[in-house]
Amino acid sequence: MKHRRKHVVLLWMLVCSGLAEAIEPISTSIAVGMAAALTGFLASYPNILYYFHECCRPEWISFNKTGLDVDLEKRLFGQHIATRIISKAVNGFVNNDKPKKPLVLSLHGWTGTGKNFVSKMIAENLYKEGMHSSFVHVFTSELHFPHASQIETYKSQLQQWIKGNVTNCAQSMFIFDEMDKMQPGLIDSIKPYLDYYDRLDGVSYQKAIFIFLSNAGGEKITETALDFWKAGKNREEIKLCDLENALSLSVFNNKKSGLWRTCLIDKNLVDFFVPFLPLEYKHVVQCVLAEMEARDLEPDKGIANQVARDLIYFPKSERVFSATGCKTIISKLDYYY
Ligand SMILES: *[C@@H]1O[C@H](CO)[C@@H](O)[C@H](O)[C@H]1NC(C)=O
Ligand SMILES: *[C@@H]1O[C@H](CO)[C@@H](O)[C@H](O)[C@H]1NC(C)=O
Repeated sequence: MKHRRKHVVLLWMLVCSGLAEAIEPISTSIAVGMAAALTGFLASYPNILYYFHECCRPEWISFNKTGLDVDLEKRLFGQHIATRIISKAVNGFVNNDKPKKPLVLSLHGWTGTGKNFVSKMIAENLYKEGMHSSFVHVFTSELHFPHASQIETYKSQLQQWIKGNVTNCAQSMFIFDEMDKMQPGLIDSIKPYLDYYDRLDGVSYQKAIFIFLSNAGGEKITETALDFWKAGKNREEIKLCDLENALSLSVFNNKKSGLWRTCLIDKNLVDFFVPFLPLEYKHVVQCVLAEMEARDLEPDKGIANQVARDLIYFPKSERVFSATGCKTIISKLDYYY
């Protein structure tokens, strides 16, 4: 068994490191011999494909632009600004052979508006293994950094993790969920990795992607969306510039944002602030219908409306936006079926 493991690891290293290609020019007889050995090996270990681990290679990491655009178009609702920025930002970044810095996106908005969902879409259209890829890392404050007193430990741990993972694979992706729950200062510890450096200690971070998710700024975004609604203007008329300044300021000055007075914003290390608008009734209905389709259920408008009606809407007087966005519809849908 031990012996077999060793073989598998060796083979994996061969495949992952591209040694297999390097060996190619060697004389045919050796190549034939090796092929024979390999075939024999595969025949004696039929489960070998099981062991084929994910590698940091184009076979496992390649961007599907159409896939991301289709996902954003068909599965994300009510987010015309986010859709456009995400598509352009990710596409521009991965098609740049020599990016000067890693891609840093900060996604802001009310709960249930699609921030997690979009991160997942990016991962799924970039890594063959999607969110299960060993090159995609999700950090949440509750899970990874729960104790305020240990912030110094967390800082060095986080640095080591990021350095270690980017050393393993330059095209790593790091998602920081619930940034608003992270202690101010923690995220400053990774600032050097987000900056315009060719190399730090021999490691280049320029191909990595960092995504911050946060509810911070949600009030400002909602205020703007409500102003448009009250003025009878179309929601699609809201432009990024209507939100961007208010957003970065409210994030910067909000102690609870996780980005509070951080030098990431100060030094413009965040490439894009992406606002997620609060969702209206009609978007919730769209979410429910999409979820039905995803579950291979017959789309039922009656049930979709029922689920949407059951949610709470705010502000109290106008009841325009869903308080939980599309977040709770999945469990609600279970109840109806
Ligand atoms: C890219 O995404 C599209 C749309 O989801 C899909 O049809 C296509 O097969 C994908 N291409 C690759 C190479 O995975
Ligand atoms: C990569 O990150 C994970 C956390 O997501 C951590 O547990 C692991 O030790 C890191 N790997 C390296 C090589 O540093």
